[in-house]
Amino acid sequence: MDKIVVIGGRRLEGQVTISGAKNAVLPIMAACLLAHGRFRIKRVPELRDVRTMSHLLRIIGARVDQEGHELRIDTTNCSFFEAPYELVKTMRASIYVLGPLVARYGYARVSLPGGCAWGPRPVDLHIKGLQKLGAEIGLERGYIVARAKKLKGTTITLDIPSVGATGNILMAAALAEGTTVIENAAREPEIASLAEFLNGMGAQIEGIGTDRLVIRGVQELQPADFETIPDRIEAGTFLVAGAITQGDVTVRQVVPDHLRSVLAKLTDAGAEVFEGPDWVRVKCDRRVKAVDVTTAVYPGFPTDMQAQWMALMCIAEGTSVIVDTIFADRFTHVAELRRLGADIRMDGNSAHVVGVPKLQGAPVMSTDLRASASLILAGLVAEGRTDVSRVYHIDRGYERIEEKLKGLGAEIWREQEPWPEAVVGVMPPDES
Ligand code: UD1
Repeated sequence: MDKIVVIGGRRLEGQVTISGAKNAVLPIMAACLLAHGRFRIKRVPELRDVRTMSHLLRIIGARVDQEGHELRIDTTNCSFFEAPYELVKTMRASIYVLGPLVARYGYARVSLPGGCAWGPRPVDLHIKGLQKLGAEIGLERGYIVARAKKLKGTTITLDIPSVGATGNILMAAALAEGTTVIENAAREPEIASLAEFLNGMGAQIEGIGTDRLVIRGVQELQPADFETIPDRIEAGTFLVAGAITQGDVTVRQVVPDHLRSVLAKLTDAGAEVFEGPDWVRVKCDRRVKAVDVTTAVYPGFPTDMQAQWMALMCIAEGTSVIVDTIFADRFTHVAELRRLGADIRMDGNSAHVVGVPKLQGAPVMSTDLRASASLILAGLVAEGRTDVSRVYHIDRGYERIEEKLKGLGAEIWREQEPWPEAVVGVMPPDES
């Protein structure tokens, strides 16, 4: 098992190229199950979650080859329509195969993900949506079993604009008979990009990027090639790295519009923000000011940036309040940040962060993907050495984060850490 070691105190400077978005490519990989044939997906990040989804597609019968950042998927011989518990428990996004399988093959058996460190995280909206489209869904020994002869278009109003439920219903509706309208749909760029991909396959989706998606079902979809959109969370993390180290960091190959809420908060905190068509630069000459953040659905401040923002606020001048309205329990990083000397008090889903002038390096344990990122960010400014263990979490969603940070001037490296005998074989839970 690896850990990441950071020696704090270096000012980060330079440019970093952002990878394709994990949360965009995972549903796109699942969507390939909607057609027979060969797909080519470009700008695919080399991540553990992508390998897990590839593994799942292979179980279903697809051929999947990743060469660098290009993924080739051949869905000609799919014949086993199941997502086993062993995989779903390591990656919740496995649920994305449910909609495509039931729409394309009329049957799917997908393990229920169960709870996670951020709370219960139900998938009821996925199930209700597919039921409204006409699928018969039962729960059998921990598995969602869905059957349908032919899905039928209808209007589905989501109680919450869930990213996953919108994606699953969208994929299923693409092959349904008649028109489906999804009201209160998620507007996240990753959902818009999924809809663009589906349209490239021959789907007829309108309202892309809005909270009302209109899908005219088609008989059949064809394979297509696609390029993954940039990862706005990776980009946001590197911009915070620039601000926290009072540095000057440019993220390249990004869509600045996807980063609006984060850029506005960085500006409020006193950083200078410059941008071009596909790059954003953050320059910060002094200690940032405390700025409150409340997470919200897109285009609001992303919950996936909450932990990284908290790391920044730990060394800000003043007190800030950080509220997570999307996942009320997503605060596993707080106890670890405190070990580095942060002054944080929790009150329900609100964190009150009193900025301190300095953090001190310490061994910390990363508890989920974005929490790990926040600990590395804190380590960049902590005095001395910070060892962030259990970095398998970070490898789920950041491609070579230590190399990219090193390229910006950080003193950081990866080390092997022996697993204690007792935990060998225990798969880590998934949280994003
Ligand atoms: C996705 C992202 C994750 C991000 C989250 C919110 C992927 C692979 N993961 O997760 O990184 O943090 O969006 O931006 O893209 N909910 C229900 N019932 C459901 C589904 C969701 O109550 O059936 C609730 C959740 O508990 C949560 C809220 O809706 O409180 C939002 O969750 P959702 O948007 O579905 O997140 P995910 O798709 O799981």
